[in-house]
Amino acid sequence: MSLDVAAGLLTCPSCRGVLDLATLQARCPAGHTFDVARQGHLNLLGRPQPKNADTGSMLLARSRVLEGLYADVVALVAETAAALRPRVVVDAGAGTGQYLAATLDALPDAVGIATDVSVAAARRAASAHPRLASVVADTWRGLPVADRSADLVLCVFAPRNPADFSRLLAPGGHLVVVTPEPGHLETVRATYGLLDLGPDKGRRLRQSLSGLFEPLSSSRFTRTLDASAEEVRDVVAMGPNAFHGMQATGPARLEIDVRCRTYRRLQHAAHGEGDLPKREDGQDER
Ligand SMILES: C[S@@+](CC[C@H](N)C(=O)[O-])C[C@H]1O[C@@H](n2cnc3c(N)ncnc32)[C@H](O)[C@@H]1O
Repeated sequence: MSLDVAAGLLTCPSCRGVLDLATLQARCPAGHTFDVARQGHLNLLGRPQPKNADTGSMLLARSRVLEGLYADVVALVAETAAALRPRVVVDAGAGTGQYLAATLDALPDAVGIATDVSVAAARRAASAHPRLASVVADTWRGLPVADRSADLVLCVFAPRNPADFSRLLAPGGHLVVVTPEPGHLETVRATYGLLDLGPDKGRRLRQSLSGLFEPLSSSRFTRTLDASAEEVRDVVAMGPNAFHGMQATGPARLEIDVRCRTYRRLQHAAHGEGDLPKREDGQDER
C-alpha cells in the first residue's frame, strides 16, 4: 500500500489544487487537508458515502469470485491494459483493486490509482498492490486526478464519466471498458431473479463516448462453468442483490459473457472545459 506513488497526480476535491501527500495527511496549496486512513487509503469524497455503497461482505465475495470464477477475465483485462504500455493507470470504480493489481503486475514501471465511492472498497484496494494508491471518490462528480495526468483509465463493470475520463487522460491516452453481454450470468440471473443488465449497452456506450474517444478494439470473452453452491452464493452476494437479502442455494451453470473494448482519447474532444460530465451508469453490470 502506498499513496506516495500518486504524488503530483491527486487533486483537492474542493479547489482542484494538486495535493501534497504526506504520511498522515494530504494538503492542497489552498490549505484543505484530508486525513490518510490507517489502512492507507485517502478519502476525497467530501461527504458520507452513499447508502448503497458496496459493503465489506460484498467485497469479500467479489474478491473470491475474481480469484476463482473470473480469474480469466482478470487476466484478459490485465493483458489488454498492459499491451497499451501505460505508466499511470486509473481504475474507476475499482472495487477490490484486483483488476488494477493484475495490470500493475504486468507493468513493472507503472503506478495505479484505484477510485471507488465505497470506503470498504478503498480500504481493500489499498493493500491490493504496492504501486497502487487507493482513493474514495465519486466518478459522477469527476475524479480527483490531475488534468492530462493518466495514460489509461480502466472501467470494469462500473459507472463511467466519459468527459471526466477524457479530461484526466494525457493526449493519446486510452480507455478500457469491460461490460457484460446479454448472456452474462444468464442462468443465475434467471434462477435468483437478479437485477437486469439493462438493454442496448453497446449502443449506449458508443453514444456516450462519441466525440471523446475513438474505438480501437473489441473482444468478447465467453465461458460456461459449473459453479459450486458457494461460488454461486458469492456471485449473488457480490452485487446489489445482496442488499435485497437474496441468497443463492445451490450449484448452477454459470455463463461468463463479457466484452472488453479499447478506446483512444480524441485529441480534440468535443467537450469544453467545465462541461458537465455525461452520466452513464454501469452499476448494474456485474
Ligand atoms: C460491479 S462493481 C465493479 C468493481 C470492480 N471494477 C470489479 O469489476 O471487480 C461496481 C463498483 O463501482 C463502485 N461505484 C458505484 N458507483 C460509483 C460512483 N458513483 N463512483 C465511484 N465508484 C462507484 C461500486 O462501489 C463498486 O465497487
